[in-house]
Amino acid sequence: MPATDPIQPLVNELLNSRKYRALNLPAETVRDLLEQELPRHRNSKDALKAVRHKLHTIVAPYLGDPDYDQVATDLRAASIAGPKALRAACAGVLAAHASTRERLQVLDDFYPRLFAVTGQPGSILDLACGLNPFAWPWMGLPASTQYHAYDIHAPRVSAINAFFETQGLAPLAEVRDVLVRPPEIEADVAFLFKEAHRMEERARGCSRAFWRALKVRWLLVSLPAESLSGKFQLAERQRALVNQAIGDAGWPVTELTFGAEIVFCIEKPHDA
Ligand SMILES: C[S@@+](CC[C@H](N)C(=O)[O-])C[C@H]1O[C@@H](n2cnc3c(N)ncnc32)[C@H](O)[C@@H]1O
Repeated sequence: MPATDPIQPLVNELLNSRKYRALNLPAETVRDLLEQELPRHRNSKDALKAVRHKLHTIVAPYLGDPDYDQVATDLRAASIAGPKALRAACAGVLAAHASTRERLQVLDDFYPRLFAVTGQPGSILDLACGLNPFAWPWMGLPASTQYHAYDIHAPRVSAINAFFETQGLAPLAEVRDVLVRPPEIEADVAFLFKEAHRMEERARGCSRAFWRALKVRWLLVSLPAESLSGKFQLAERQRALVNQAIGDAGWPVTELTFGAEIVFCIEKPHDA
């Protein structure tokens, strides 16, 4: 980075703002948004306003958060208490965020149906994971699974690693902006749950290059089949997003529906 980098002070201003200070967001996210918005506005004040708006949608604090310190303590105790207590404690964490709360009613079937399509994965990339790794007790996978989880929210990532350790899993959760730096690691399956439509709002058309960059056999993209209020049916719009992103790659798609969530199971050829 050059000594006179004009963007760095703006990056610092946003990272150190009262709203985001405690989250330790990656600088790469804020820089990427500024690089997009600065050329689109007449002055840096307007660009900052646009970046703040986008950041609010990306971090989405309105979707909910548990008390992360409490999560670590509760899950440590629950994993010693046994499988029933562990599921109850994990369900409590999953209920704290809208995306995972909605999935709770279908969780018993969710992973068995996905893995019936993909086969049992030995390695997973959970992209923009949110609280989804706390669904681990419902995945039916061994502790040898390489479960890589990525999010930009540092307190979430620390709580996930603390949880992984109680389960004998390697602490492979990482703070990373997966759009700026798609994981290079190869894996059997990637989860991209309930975020692709927001990524498209962040940068229209970004899914195409992002999905191509992933070195996975299966890419499982889930999207809401209806709006948060339940008023609008979105299935056709989501199919269009997926088809647009796949483009001429011609990857086969198997669609599974779980209540108001559609999972597009996309099979990528080995060399794609
Ligand atoms: C709507 S939630 C979905 C959570 C999870 N995938 C699920 O469906 O349960 C979005 C999550 O993605 C994270 N996120 C958004 N953009 C991201 C990016 N570019 N890289 C990594 N994480 C991201 C947010 O911090 C948030 O935790």
